[in-house]
Amino acid sequence: MKQCRIVALLSQKGGVGKTTVTMQLAEGLSGSGYRITVCDLDPQESATRWAAAADAAEPFPATVEGFRGNLQELGAQFGACARRADMILLDCPPSIEHPHTLAALELADLILIPVVPSPTDLWSTRAVERLVIATMARRPSLRAALLPNRVQRTALAADVLEVLREFSLPVIGASLAQRNAYAQSAVQGGSVYRLGRAADQAREEMDRLLAAVLELTGETK
Ligand SMILES: Nc1ncnc2c1ncn2[C@@H]1O[C@H](COP(=O)(O)OP(=O)(O)O)[C@@H](O)[C@H]1O
Ligand SMILES: [Mg+2]
Repeated sequence: MKQCRIVALLSQKGGVGKTTVTMQLAEGLSGSGYRITVCDLDPQESATRWAAAADAAEPFPATVEGFRGNLQELGAQFGACARRADMILLDCPPSIEHPHTLAALELADLILIPVVPSPTDLWSTRAVERLVIATMARRPSLRAALLPNRVQRTALAADVLEVLREFSLPVIGASLAQRNAYAQSAVQGGSVYRLGRAADQAREEMDRLLAAVLELTGETK
């Protein structure tokens, strides 16, 4: 039987796009035939509310499960999930000290760190990177990458992206731009995959991100 992969969306700050990217990946990967479970590790339950906003006629295609508990309990819940999912996406709380974030670090195969290209986000990304690299020293199979999100075509964003390339963790080439379609998909409880022509560019960049995630999880070579 194929192994269930665990992908965690992690950051020190809120508002960088963890939930948004989790839900886009969940619907995109479901559309490609993967059975996806989203584990909502954030006490704010944004992912749970997002899926609940979907129309009953077109429900969110992935299971979204809440969670309260410690690392052992989380591991046990994943054991049950892994029998019915090909991939589990962990939407983490906006803190690297939160026990759920620390549990995600121990259980994930791949960690994606969304980064909004602004100077303050760079500083908080340094702290996440240190934690992830320390975890990788103990868990050599763990993979991790920085994911630029809400990228705008400004000189400042370009400068910040340049600095980001000097970080130790790799930067995913498939970054996501600042687009209304992402915010709008939350209102509809879906993803850019169910929006109209205006979301074409968002879908194209999401397709590139799906391919990058599948490669990083070893699903494709
Ligand atoms: N690429 C993007 N383009 C436009 N808005 C975005 C994008 N990514 C996230 N957002 C918006 O940013 C806000 C924070 O995103 P969210 O996914 O809730 O972040 P987090 O889970 O890290 O706290 C939301 O209002 C969301 O709609
Ligand atoms: Mg969130």
